[in-house]
Amino acid sequence: MDFLETSCVLSELDSKTLVQCKPFCCGDVDLDDFFLTDVENYGKQLLGKSYCYRLNEDPTVIVCAFTLANSSVDVRHFPGSRRKKLAELIPREKHLSSYPAYLVCRLGVSTAFRGKGIGTNLMNNIKLWVLKPDTKGGCRFLTVDAYNNEATRQYYTANGFNDAFSTEQQEKEYMGMPPEKELKTRLMYFDLMLLSNKI
Ligand SMILES: CC(C)(COP(=O)(O)OP(=O)(O)OC[C@H]1O[C@@H](n2cnc3c(N)ncnc32)[C@H](O)[C@@H]1OP(=O)(O)O)[C@@H](O)C(=O)NCCC(=O)NCCS
Repeated sequence: MDFLETSCVLSELDSKTLVQCKPFCCGDVDLDDFFLTDVENYGKQLLGKSYCYRLNEDPTVIVCAFTLANSSVDVRHFPGSRRKKLAELIPREKHLSSYPAYLVCRLGVSTAFRGKGIGTNLMNNIKLWVLKPDTKGGCRFLTVDAYNNEATRQYYTANGFNDAFSTEQQEKEYMGMPPEKELKTRLMYFDLMLLSNKI
């Protein structure tokens, strides 16, 4: 199913778009607030670009929204086993201490469209989009700081993302967090090389 291609239009998500649309609700208060009030300033500060898919038949309806930023996967401080896992993806002579990536800073599907495969449709589009020949600069990985809850992590896993760290403890150490502190997000990555022959 390619509902987003056939039934929606992709637009930048900025104050101009927002005034034309009904409030977007993906069910997460922080994300809803970000897309409603913060998105314009975030873009103006060059921290991330935000986009949304709106229904063709009613462009006041935002089906899903997302924000992307340039990023990197810095493996220098990864535990040896995790660094090795990533290194195995890349030819030895091309090993680096940090690999170029796009970060999915924010992403949400409207509660009205949930559980219909639209999140997967969106992720497939993002993967192909960042691989397009007109994308300036190399990008090997798509990364996300995924909310550390089962539904979100299951969504990213179902979409081919792997945990950068096998345990929360490893990730806390990498982040310099005390062990008793709650880990709100988990770093996950998708290797775009898996799709590079599809472009
Ligand atoms: C996570 C989210 C984007 C998924 O969107 P969606 O359109 O419902 O996702 P899909 O229908 O494409 O689901 C794809 C897969 O994700 C997993 N998944 C999605 N929602 C899930 C849930 N509530 N519980 C468990 N797994 C879930 C399933 O494996 C599903 O495959 P299946 O339907 O074959 O079982 C959406 O629920 C959302 O916007 N959540 C709130 C915001 C959020 O958490 N954003 C991510 C921030 S990092």
